[in-house]
This record gives sequence, structure tokens and C-alpha cells, in this order.
Amino acid sequence: VTGTPSQHPLITARRTRWALDPGHEVTDEQLRVLFDAGRWAASRGNLQPARFLVGRRGTDTFDALLDVLMPSNRVWAQAASALAMGMAVTTVDDRANRHAWYDLGQACGQLALQAVAMDLEVHQMAGFSAADARVRFGVPDDCDPVVAIAIGRPGPVDALPADLRAKQERPRTRLPLDQVVFTGRYGTPAFP
Ligand SMILES: Cc1cc2nc3c(=O)[nH]c(=O)nc-3n(C[C@H](O)[C@H](O)[C@H](O)COP(=O)(O)O)c2cc1C
Repeated sequence: VTGTPSQHPLITARRTRWALDPGHEVTDEQLRVLFDAGRWAASRGNLQPARFLVGRRGTDTFDALLDVLMPSNRVWAQAASALAMGMAVTTVDDRANRHAWYDLGQACGQLALQAVAMDLEVHQMAGFSAADARVRFGVPDDCDPVVAIAIGRPGPVDALPADLRAKQERPRTRLPLDQVVFTGRYGTPAFP
């Protein structure tokens, strides 16, 4: 369920964790490496619509990002070493870029795999208020706050509330490949 032996270890090792080490400090250099990995993602026409805001724990940016998270995410994300937000610039020369979100996602995917290589946890979150974030950080109208990101070091699961511990320990599942990859006609499995 968590990948096959032929997959790259970066992919099989990546997983989402709720237990973060509240004593861990991430360095500016580590954050620079992470976001640089995102910066080098492919994008439509090399338009590079991905934008990020980031703050280490103890900074005003971190506190403001924690504030805009849904309470259910705030519980565990407060132990992150840094919090970030991914945004997509959705217009170019007054025309909509409908791949902006795709490109942001791809940048976040690269960032997440780079984190695995550095023994860091990247936990992406839809559970935050984009409207509040827009106001708090002065995000311009053509830029869409899409995802909040907790960055940290995995911590002990027994420090988690029971519901979150259960989430982290549940088996990871995926749709089978025959429901995802088609050939000839939509719905016809390429790999039955
Ligand atoms: C765009 C996005 C939004 C997510 N939002 C949340 C969230 O708000 N809170 C949370 O605890 N996890 C969130 N997750 C984590 C997912 O639940 C997790 O990635 C999914 O269950 C698959 O597990 P895996 O990452 O271990 O493969 C989000 C993940 C993504 C990619």
C-alpha cells in the first residue's frame, strides 16, 4: 500500500505526520533549500506562478499563519518548526492562467520530496482561511492563497491527542491503479 520496492525511496518514505517535535529548530539555510526545490519545478510556459510566505517558529509570520489555520490544524501545527503558505498567481497580462494551481502543486510536490531527503516533515493543509490570510499578509488580488504548510521534524506519536494519533497510525490507502490510469477510453484500465 505504501509503494513498491521499485519506487524511489523518496516516494516510499514520504508520508504525512501529525506528530512534530516542538523543540526542533529549522535553519534558514534548510528553508532556503526546500523552497529552492520548489522554485525549480516545471511550470506552464515557465510562468512560475508559485509564491510562498514562510516564517520560523517564534516569528510574527509564524504566529499569523497559525492564527489563520483551522483550529483542528492549529492543535498540532503549533509544534512545527516553520509555517508557510503556498499561493498561485492566477493571471498573466490580464489573462487567466488556468494552470497556476497545477504549477503551485507541482512546486509543493518537489518541496515535499526535498524535505524527505533532509529528514524534515512537510504537512500540507487546505484547512486555513484564505480570506484571512489575504488580509493579514497583504496578498494581491491576482494571487490565490491555496495551501498552508507545516515544516518540522517528526516527533513521538504518544504526545498526540488520541484522534490525531489514530490518524497518523491508520494504514495509508490509495485507489487501485486500474481506477486511475486508462487507455483507449476513459474508464478502461491501462493496467488491469
Ligand atoms: C492540498 C492538501 C491539503 C491537505 N489538507 C490537510 C489539512 O487541512 N489537515 C491535515 O491534517 N492534513 C491535510 N492534508 C494531508 C492529507 O490528509 C494527506 O496527504 C493524505 O491523507 C494522504 O496521506 P499521505 O500524505 O501520508 O500520503 C492535506 C494534503 C494536501 C495535499
